[in-house]
Parts: sequence; structure tokens; C-alpha cells
Amino acid sequence: MDASRTSTELQADGDIARRLLDWYRAHARSLPWRIPPGEGALPDPYRVWLSEVMLQQTTTAAVAPYFAKFTARWPDVQALAAAAEEDVMAAWAGLGYYSRARNLVACARQVAERGRFPESEEELRGLPGLGAYTAAAIAAIAFGRRAVVVDANVERVVARLFAVEEPLPAARKQIRALADQITPADNAGDFAQAMMDLGATICTARAPKCLLCPLASACRGRANGDPARLPVKPPKKAKPERAGTAWWIERDGAVWLVSRPGSGMLGGMRALPDDGWHSGGDGTGQAPLEGQWTPAGAVRHTFTHFHISLSLELFEGPAPEAGADELPAGGEWWPIDRLEEAGLPTLFAKAAQLALAQSESA
Ligand code: ADE
Repeated sequence: MDASRTSTELQADGDIARRLLDWYRAHARSLPWRIPPGEGALPDPYRVWLSEVMLQQTTTAAVAPYFAKFTARWPDVQALAAAAEEDVMAAWAGLGYYSRARNLVACARQVAERGRFPESEEELRGLPGLGAYTAAAIAAIAFGRRAVVVDANVERVVARLFAVEEPLPAARKQIRALADQITPADNAGDFAQAMMDLGATICTARAPKCLLCPLASACRGRANGDPARLPVKPPKKAKPERAGTAWWIERDGAVWLVSRPGSGMLGGMRALPDDGWHSGGDGTGQAPLEGQWTPAGAVRHTFTHFHISLSLELFEGPAPEAGADELPAGGEWWPIDRLEEAGLPTLFAKAAQLALAQSESA
């Protein structure tokens, strides 16, 4: 902490934490991985870790059903460590950012091997898939350690509270130092989650509800008249448009699915065969089998760095037998009536739906 700060300033920082914690006791969101504030108990580190990994880049509403499914099927870290990686990948399907699922299994195995989760931020950071944010969140929420937890919600609250005018991403250093300044020695987990809840429900990106905010009287962004302007964002880069083709090859009520290579886009996931599109370029459009193909429309999907329009082509049989050289390598015939168990990532689930809608209408 900055030694030059006056006792009045330090008191004001403590006051912010106190007001926020009071507000959180009355208004905390009820979320399945939480213990309500004020109960004095710490939540299960396994549930905290699992929820924080799922919540990276994903909303609480999208995460909730996956969290329920995972904790029912794998109730503790030992159970998850013993799971087959492909089962975890399939259960993750639809949540996106699939490297998280691979890291999840690797992390569970390391933790099961050592017996339990480490408690310090530094040791947590050494585990697969845990960056600075996640390590700090787990240290604070699951172990009650003082840690400075800054996600996008916290970033917004702090930028407004202190009227940070420097644009992101350069402002991150300053925002982190300011968050450190207001983080209390005790209750760091509740404090972190209170900041997240304030950002998610009151200090929202658009139209913040300042009249309901427990920090309104201390907020410099509000005093300046236009808190919604903050944090200042860098100009948005247009996402490039990519194009690719996926191939639907059917035989005896089954479709040919491939397992994608472990690294790269959607690595390790099952998928329809495609023409090699990737984050940096379009596919070749080259069909994997000689024969007649019928265009069946296209689906659109947005990834972090690009949009893709994926055309779908249906093979007009007869398809070769399994093991035949012509079929795209690394695949299997998958029964169409059990397609939802294949764990297709969303892009390919959309394409499969398109194929199925055509066969229904045929
Ligand atoms: N986003 C990430 N972690 C969260 C948590 N513990 N509570 C609410 N929102 C979150």
C-alpha cells in the first residue's frame, strides 16, 4: 500500500469495503457454488475451482446447468481425476473454449495426486488452466486468503469508482493497484464476489443503476456525470469473416464423425469432417469423397477472433464402409439418434441440426 496516503484516504478505502460487504450480505446472488455470506464457512474448493474455470469467458446463466451436471456426475476432484478425458470433453460441449476442459482434467489429476488443492495464489497459479484471475479468486473465495481479484465486472466498478480515464488495456495496471487499495485484509472472498455482483447487477456496462448503489456517494465516475462511459475501451477491431465447409456422410442411420486433433481450434472434440478452415483462413472447399454432394445451406458462428460461415454438404451415398480408405481419417460411425451424446461443439451441433432438419423435410 502507498505510504504517502493520508489516514483519511485509508479510512475512506476501508469504508468502501465495509459498505460493499454490508450490501453483499443483503443482496448476494444465490449461485450454486456459493455459501451465502455471513455463515462463516468456506465453500468446497473443488466447487469453487470448477465454477471459476467454467465462468472464464462465460456467463453465470450459461454455466449453472453445466455446473449441476458436472457436480452430479463427478462430485469431487478424485472422481473428476478418474474420468476419461473424452467423457469430460463431451460433457463440456456447448460451453466453448475447449482447452479449458482439457486443462480441467489435467488439473484434477494433479490435485488428486497431491491430495488436495493448494491454498496460496502462487501455488494455485502453477496448476493447469489457472491464470492470475482464477488463482486469486480461488485463494480468496475457497481459502479466505487476501487476494486481489479483478475480472471484467470488477474492472468496470473500479474504473468508475476512481474515474480512471486511461483506456483499456493499458489501464489494467492502474485498476489493479486501485482494487488492491480497497481490498480488505479479511473477507477477501466475500469482497471479491460482492464486487462481481455489484458489477453484474448494479454497475452494469450500460445504464448503471446508481440510485441503488452502495458506493454511489464515493463514486468519482458518477460525480463526473457519465459513469457509463467508463472504463474507456480501445476502438473495436472488426472480426474477420471466415468460410468453411462441413461434410455430412450418412450410412444405415449413422453419421461419420471425426475426432479433431488435440491442439488447434476445438482440439480433441468430435466434429463433422470439414475442409480445414481455421482461425487464420478459409477452408479448401475440397470434398473428402468422390461422388455427388448436395448443398444444404450454411450456419454462422462467432468465435473470439472471427466469425465463420460453415456451409454444409450432404453426401448422396452409398457411403463406404467403416475402415474404407476414402473416409476422412480418425472417425467413427455415430448413431444419429444418439447424436446429442457425441458432445459436438456448438458450431457443428448447428450444422448437424441443419442436416437433420433437411432429412425431416425430405
Ligand atoms: N464470475 C466469476 N466468478 C464468479 C463468482 N464467484 N460469483 C459471481 N460471478 C462470478
